[in-house]
Amino acid sequence: MLKVGLLGAGRIGRVHAINIASHARSQLVAVSDVNEDAARSLAGAYGAQATSSDAILADASIDAVLIATSTDTHSDLIEKATAAGKAVLCEKPVDLSLERAQACLDAVSKTGVPVMIGFNRRFDPNFSAIKASVVAGEVGKPELLSITSFDPAPPPVAYVKVSGGLFRDMMIHDFDMANFLMGDAPTSVHAAGTSIVDPEIGKAGDVDTAVVTLIYADGRIAVIKNSRRAVYGYDQRVELLGSEGLLSAGNVLENTVSKATKQGVTSAKPEFFFLERYMRAYAAEWDAFVSAILDGAAIPVTLQDGVAALALAEAATQSAKSGQSVTLAR
Ligand SMILES: NC(=O)c1ccc[n+]([C@@H]2O[C@H](COP(=O)([O-])OP(=O)(O)OC[C@H]3O[C@@H](n4cnc5c(N)ncnc54)[C@H](O)[C@@H]3O)[C@@H](O)[C@H]2O)c1
Repeated sequence: MLKVGLLGAGRIGRVHAINIASHARSQLVAVSDVNEDAARSLAGAYGAQATSSDAILADASIDAVLIATSTDTHSDLIEKATAAGKAVLCEKPVDLSLERAQACLDAVSKTGVPVMIGFNRRFDPNFSAIKASVVAGEVGKPELLSITSFDPAPPPVAYVKVSGGLFRDMMIHDFDMANFLMGDAPTSVHAAGTSIVDPEIGKAGDVDTAVVTLIYADGRIAVIKNSRRAVYGYDQRVELLGSEGLLSAGNVLENTVSKATKQGVTSAKPEFFFLERYMRAYAAEWDAFVSAILDGAAIPVTLQDGVAALALAEAATQSAKSGQSVTLAR
């Protein structure tokens, strides 16, 4: 049984609490949050103790921590937790700064303590089936990848200001998906971004609509499209053209009813947002972490993967500002 402390009792912390507490091989024993009421209320729902992050890290009976605090705390908490010998699952992104994330990776590598990063989409049944098909060679060599990722509605500008920007906060998932499905890192990144959904987002120095092109050393290409607004719901699709065929994953709909009338054929909308669409993925992600720690299996999404995705986010941020492609060292 893996004894777990949860750091951060916010939006995503509440999802992780359910998965930790309901897993047959893990137990939620403690919850911390700088907002003590949030920690108390979440801990109380699962019979766990509400305490401080320092107390969780000092508790020798706790084996692992899940870090679901605000992004600017991740690197510090990963370093403290691994120094205390706790296995870590940390939410994305590793940090707002690539340099800080790299320093965190260097520090953690010396400890040998396992760290997994929460790129939950790898555990989505659709996208993991695409990966399995690629690995089995069913469509030959992936040559052109297209990722569509649109949120239903933009976040408040206050969130945008502390988020690190669209590329680090939102497209980071798609950068990881590109690395995952193409099985390689690109050598060049070109980004175009605008703020046409909410001009306030532009005034805050961010974009809400963006397209990124990734070029690989052998000439392969990936294209990622992000928008902070899709009025019909959360749009999450992947299309991968390989030398021997095409793989595509469409949206998961709110229900499977299709209505055909004289006016046309209609179906339900895509599931509303990440808390609906990726519920199964978060549970599968937690299960993979528990198996890795208790059974000694390989960590499926490493801290290095987190740094690699952040490097693409940083390059895209630069490219969108300068209008120039950014070349990446291999
Ligand atoms: N993988 C995903 O799909 C996904 C989805 C949402 C959020 N996230 C990531 O999860 C993190 C949290 O996002 P959220 O939407 O839950 O935010 P949130 O603001 O709802 O929750 C964050 C919580 O962390 C607490 N906190 C902040 N600093 C702390 C500290 N030093 N110690 C203890 N608690 C602290 C805050 O009080 C808050 O309750 C972010 O890094 C975000 O990028 C990932």
